[in-house]
Amino acid sequence: MSKRNILVTSALPNANGSIHLGHMLEHIQTDIWVRFQRMRGNTCTYVCADDTHGTAIMLKAEERGVSPEQLIAEVKAGHEQDFRDFLISHDNYHSTHSEENREISALIYNRLKEAGKIRVKTVNQLFDPEKNLFLADRFIIGACPKCKTEGQYGDNCEACGATYDATDLINPRSKISGAEPVLRESTHFFFALSDYTEFLKNWTRSGPLNEQVANKLAEWLDAGLQDWDISRDAPYFGFEIPGEPGKYFYVWLDAPIGYMASFRHYCNSRNDLTFEDYWDADSANEVHHFIGKDIINFHALFWPAMLSTAGFRTPTRIHTHGFITVNGQKMSKSRGTFINARTYIEHLAPEYLRYYFATKLSAGIDDLDINLEDFVQKVNSDLVGKVVNIASRCAGFISKNFDGNLSAAPSTPLVEEFLNQRDAIAALYEQDEFGKAMREIMAMADKANQYIAEHQPWARIKEPGNEALVQNVCSDGINMFRTIVTYLKPVLPELAARAASFLNEDDLDWNSLEAPLAAHAINKFKPMMNRIEPKVIEALLESAKAEAETTAQAPQDGNSQAETDANSDNTISIDDFAKIDLRVATVINAEHVEGADKLLKLTLDLGDSQRTVFSGIKSAYQPADLIGKQTVVVANLAPRKMKFGISEGMVLAAGPGGSDIFLISPDAGATAGMQVT
Ligand code: MSP
Ligand code: ZN
Repeated sequence: MSKRNILVTSALPNANGSIHLGHMLEHIQTDIWVRFQRMRGNTCTYVCADDTHGTAIMLKAEERGVSPEQLIAEVKAGHEQDFRDFLISHDNYHSTHSEENREISALIYNRLKEAGKIRVKTVNQLFDPEKNLFLADRFIIGACPKCKTEGQYGDNCEACGATYDATDLINPRSKISGAEPVLRESTHFFFALSDYTEFLKNWTRSGPLNEQVANKLAEWLDAGLQDWDISRDAPYFGFEIPGEPGKYFYVWLDAPIGYMASFRHYCNSRNDLTFEDYWDADSANEVHHFIGKDIINFHALFWPAMLSTAGFRTPTRIHTHGFITVNGQKMSKSRGTFINARTYIEHLAPEYLRYYFATKLSAGIDDLDINLEDFVQKVNSDLVGKVVNIASRCAGFISKNFDGNLSAAPSTPLVEEFLNQRDAIAALYEQDEFGKAMREIMAMADKANQYIAEHQPWARIKEPGNEALVQNVCSDGINMFRTIVTYLKPVLPELAARAASFLNEDDLDWNSLEAPLAAHAINKFKPMMNRIEPKVIEALLESAKAEAETTAQAPQDGNSQAETDANSDNTISIDDFAKIDLRVATVINAEHVEGADKLLKLTLDLGDSQRTVFSGIKSAYQPADLIGKQTVVVANLAPRKMKFGISEGMVLAAGPGGSDIFLISPDAGATAGMQVT
């Protein structure tokens, strides 16, 4: 088969949060496919970037007292470190807030406009009159119009599942300022997606999607498509629309263009790659996107419509995966099953997870359940107990009795049989059927172990005259190990590197599986992979749980505080300080929060009102000791939805943590509601 030129992407992670195991599933899936393509001799370029635009990032930067540019730079460095530590082999990791992206976004928009596909419409939207900002649904909270539960977002109710318009909420409030939102008119720009229903009906059936995904899209296409709102009003962190001051591209307009921008940036640093070779409308090279099922519409509807109208090629294939669940349920901070990539890697090696995900992955979009017991069991029994075991059982005899030399030829047809599976295994990788590939490979490992057990080299070597037989059986075992690890190399590159050095080969290469190793000297065996100790999983879950609680209340989070301090150009002006409304408050109730390791729920009397505040001071105070105490509270902090409820302010405390946290208490004489000056 002739050599292919392939450009591959993973979806661009949002720059307002950490990489978690869900993101990592996608990058591991992509990386396995990419490493497989490279092993087969294809040119395969893998690019990604952070998705940096939007209101959430703007507000988060504001909250942290840094510029959005500073925030996204910091987050990007963390993301890149996470990906490196999981052995993700991106060729380039860029940012959507880049010059390349600005240029290509403007170019594509202008071409859509020239083609008559940009429409102007007036829309009515909720507006925060204090913050002077249009509010997306997620920035409005109020009581559910159906079940009346407080603290629900503007799109749907987490308590009863009702969906509604933000304008239907009872007593709606801006999550940002607490103000009551008002309806306001604004001009928006729309991409004429409704013109593309026929085009997309054909395109989605022309090969880029698996059938499950195409069927899902057909439901939307049959209902007919609506035009797509691609503009947002200032203030917005993003790119201003050319010729439309105060109007910005909606983040999802420039996000997929970020794939092209990252690739262009990479091409600029290389003389063997040309942007146009991959993106021109008539390009014969391939473009593959890997995404989660939640963002299919953006990639399989909006994106091909935009690309084809702007004179670019459309993607060759969109590989779509399902969502991760942990022990059968959505990853959840309150259950302690929301695991960040960083938390995992502080406890466990990346290849365990890469292998476990590989066993779960298929071409379909069903959710993938992580069961931690199953994880430990699979890794220990498959990788350590079966695969590495083959080499460790055979290597000693070869080193000790035969000076490291393998026999001149295999003595069992099994060796050949394994080698001959290379096209079948390759086809499974090509089609994203990694789980099936892992099962085929483990079946080989079982056969190899059986073969060794039947011939008992450890017993035979003790009887004289059996040298040749022992050398043959062990050489066969080593060859079978080599084939198996070569098949696993896209998943386990580090294991493959250790195996290559043991086998005294430069590299384990798919194409060298045409022949077995014969009359070849190998090196001494060293352990290649350790078992997972179940207590490490307990420690991981402990960390995940502790972290979920602290990130749920970011403003008091020790880590982000430290980061802010380290970046300190953080002085604030007297005017900034004057914005903080500090009040004396009396603690009228304090209680434990079920399921929280660090939080206490405080009810505060501020003189004219009462507030509920969640505070991370459980390690230092018993609830009963707090009742009746006075403290100082930031009274005008925007209400914050936490996993245990809404926190309506923040109490001030000092100290290094643990049992040394001291609530700031005013001198006697202060009364609830007094302003702190
Ligand atoms: N920024 C957009 C993508 C823009 S692509 C031009 C976005 N970001 S995200 O950070 O929310 O998600 C990034 C990818 O991770 C998506 O493909 C998403 O489906 C995937 N996942 C996020 N959570 C996931 C799980 N729990 N499980 C599996 N994948 C999940 O969407
Ligand atoms: Zn409800």
